[in-house]
Amino acid sequence: MSATIIDGKAFAARVRAQVAEHITRLKSEHGLTPGLAVVLVGEDPASQVYVRNKGKQTVEVGMTSIEHRLEADTSEADLLDLVRKLNVDPKIHGILVQLPLPDHLNSELVINTIDPAKDVDGFHISNVGLLGTGQTSMVPCTPLGCLMMLRDHHGSLSGLNAVVVGRSNIVGKPMAQLLLGDSCTVTIAHSRTKNIAEVVGKADIVVAAVGRPQMITGDWIKPGATVIDVGINRIPNGEKTRLVGDVDFDSCAAVAGAITPVPGGVGPMTIACLLANTLTAACRANGLSEPSGLTA
Ligand code: GUN
Repeated sequence: MSATIIDGKAFAARVRAQVAEHITRLKSEHGLTPGLAVVLVGEDPASQVYVRNKGKQTVEVGMTSIEHRLEADTSEADLLDLVRKLNVDPKIHGILVQLPLPDHLNSELVINTIDPAKDVDGFHISNVGLLGTGQTSMVPCTPLGCLMMLRDHHGSLSGLNAVVVGRSNIVGKPMAQLLLGDSCTVTIAHSRTKNIAEVVGKADIVVAAVGRPQMITGDWIKPGATVIDVGINRIPNGEKTRLVGDVDFDSCAAVAGAITPVPGGVGPMTIACLLANTLTAACRANGLSEPSGLTA
């Protein structure tokens, strides 16, 4: 194996430490404590674990964490009422409504009811438009985490060929916008892309976000390329299961210059960037300078 392993766990710990340091200063110099509200509807087990981790890490960096756990049969009107209350609560700087929502709730309507300035997921249509036009926005957490790791590894990304595999609204599309913002030449490849191995083979940077276990293999990768694996897939492993990415790690690590593992790569960066976004939102709401290195 020749590739440098990009340690997302260690990177995320550094991001959280930076966030915590900034919050200590906000508290002492401005009497300001950033607050994050997380809304969970229903009892999806994976969402519960995720929300618990968010709450724990929010408190660890010195923010206020507010959790609203609503019954699975909560009406849309009640959920929208809660979002509107959080929108005008001055102690709350970030609002996250955990997805997926139960089927009877319109996710788009709920997300687009969040005040865009408090939309720390970056999913509100206003933030999508601001990012697409290169204006200041809230940026989705997972692509922001990937961008931070890429900037750290490469310094400048200018002029590099980047291929994003996957076209989701949550990762693929915003990732492509961010790479374009850093002056990469960007291609989005997806399930209908012809000669996808050849397309990926031209990339200096590959970001894999398709949700297909170990789809990208070493023979697709240009020697020395940087491979960022956003996938989290559970596959059978004897009696048990194990987590793998969208990238076949062993074969890609033999060819790539740098690669993120699964687990321990992009995964830990998502919550770290959520905390960074909440800090950014709190600074903007109070007319204070933004933390450097923690935004796009
Ligand atoms: N469910 C899984 N990941 C996420 C996320 O990043 N944001 C929200 N709102 N829901 C999720």
